[in-house]
Amino acid sequence: MKNIVLIGFMGSGKTEIGKRLADKLGYTFIDTDSIIEKEMGKSISEIFREDGEEHFRGLEAWVVKELSGIRGCVISTGGGIVINRENILRLKKDGVIIWLKASPETIYGRIKSEHHRPLLRVEDPLQEINKLLGLREPLYAEADITIETDGLDIEKIVGKIVDAYSKF
Ligand code: S3P
Repeated sequence: MKNIVLIGFMGSGKTEIGKRLADKLGYTFIDTDSIIEKEMGKSISEIFREDGEEHFRGLEAWVVKELSGIRGCVISTGGGIVINRENILRLKKDGVIIWLKASPETIYGRIKSEHHRPLLRVEDPLQEINKLLGLREPLYAEADITIETDGLDIEKIVGKIVDAYSKF
């Protein structure tokens, strides 16, 4: 059983959708950010503040290597996992990569009341979302499957994933 790997921008619902999807399929749920937080004994925000983004990207690459060879999991990834191409190539070896695609407005609507994402703690988060999304969309688009999530609730999105995955 290949893994299902969820990629997409911050606030695209990877963790929540991943948990529901894993439940539905009887897969094990794994979240790369949670593994990093456990390993380091601190939050992602603290890692960014105390060790810097570059260090965090190194930890992301380490987790992806650690996960190689596992099977039957839904893996939810941090939004920046695609920046390092090697991460995606590795994850593709044992998994189907699914991009949860959302518009900047949908993303902004989801993240505006949350404060745990260091990259979006800026004066104009919507502008930052547009900027980062512009840079990252070509990388997310390398996924095996793209799921449009705008305007859909979790159940609908999970249903669309199961449907697309079964036909893949
Ligand atoms: C990041 C996304 C975050 C987290 C970190 C950096 C990014 O994960 O890994 O704050 O660069 O897009 P989520 O996508 O789960 O918010």
